[in-house]
Amino acid sequence: MDTKQPLVLLAGLTPAQFMRQHWQKKPLLVRQAIPGFKAPLSRPELFALAAQEGVESRLVQQTDGVWSLRHGPLPRRALPPLQRPHWTVLVQGVDLHHEAVHALMQQFRFVPDARLDDLMISYASDGGGVGPHFDSYDVFLLQAQGRRRWRIGRQKNLTLRDDMPLKILAQFEPEEEYVLEPGDMLYLPPGWAHDGIAEGGDCMTYSVGFRVPERVNLAQELLVRLADEDEGEQDQLLYQDPKQPAVSHAAEIPTTLHDFARKALDWALQQPQALERALGEYLTEPKANVWFEPGPEGVMLEQVVLDRRTRMMYDAEHIFINGESYRAAGEDAQLMRQLANDRALDGRALAHASDDALELLSSWCDAGWLHAQKP
Ligand code: SIN
Ligand code: CO
Repeated sequence: MDTKQPLVLLAGLTPAQFMRQHWQKKPLLVRQAIPGFKAPLSRPELFALAAQEGVESRLVQQTDGVWSLRHGPLPRRALPPLQRPHWTVLVQGVDLHHEAVHALMQQFRFVPDARLDDLMISYASDGGGVGPHFDSYDVFLLQAQGRRRWRIGRQKNLTLRDDMPLKILAQFEPEEEYVLEPGDMLYLPPGWAHDGIAEGGDCMTYSVGFRVPERVNLAQELLVRLADEDEGEQDQLLYQDPKQPAVSHAAEIPTTLHDFARKALDWALQQPQALERALGEYLTEPKANVWFEPGPEGVMLEQVVLDRRTRMMYDAEHIFINGESYRAAGEDAQLMRQLANDRALDGRALAHASDDALELLSSWCDAGWLHAQKP
């Protein structure tokens, strides 16, 4: 993406300006971010997704100040009548299931894919919403249908009510208020308190959300992968304790074993590229509810496009796709990087591909990660 090109989506800012001035710093309200926007997914289509196994959905209702939460799958009969006020259904990861929604999310790829998470759609009846809360990630809230009143604030007191099944701020102190119409968009950095209430029903909001690696969780993920790295014969090192004295307290762990454990972790971290490989594999691991249907065999690779569920990234030494890593250099690396960035390769790009690269691409087609298209 050209980061210096002003975008209507960002109120005329370039992606470079937006990232410098707003990202993780301050909200941005964009009137008509997508002029004339028409929701690509109808209400029945959204409700059908909410009813599916393997699609994450929630129903939030408010009755007399009491909030209730039900997790999906949500068959249509589980949803209240449309005329009943104060309820909302939220469907996570719609980009994985719907091509036009996936395409919409591509407009936000001025943020690295490693940070982009998913597109959630909420449908709300009149007065519906999830209550005043804050999120730990950045979010773009695009109004897709109907109207929603957003109240936002940068409050310090982030105490949550402990008597509710969802995150509701104990004391919400809004500072600003906006009513969003279809095509309008509000960007909020992490930690900003917000409350969006549907005005008039039939309200749909699209939230583009981001992945926030958390230190302990990331360490766990990486350590599991580092432990899986192949260890050569010559690298095997067994604990030895020829100086271990006899002990009178057998249950006490020897400090020499602490040292050995620390060195074992240092060693794993110091293996060339092991951490980079573990990170790339982790970041491109498909979501838990994603599976791929094998593609047709023996297709001609004249033009290819990544499946919308495929995660593909790269670093200086590797190509990562759906949790697998490949060492790549030279022209093959160039080609695979182009595929990761453009999510497609045309005939001209493929004409220069080496036999090795073509073989790899064709195995990804077989796996359903990549699809061959007629030019
Ligand atoms: C909603 O769409 O109702 C909730 C989105 C959010 O507050 O993050
Ligand atoms: Co939120």
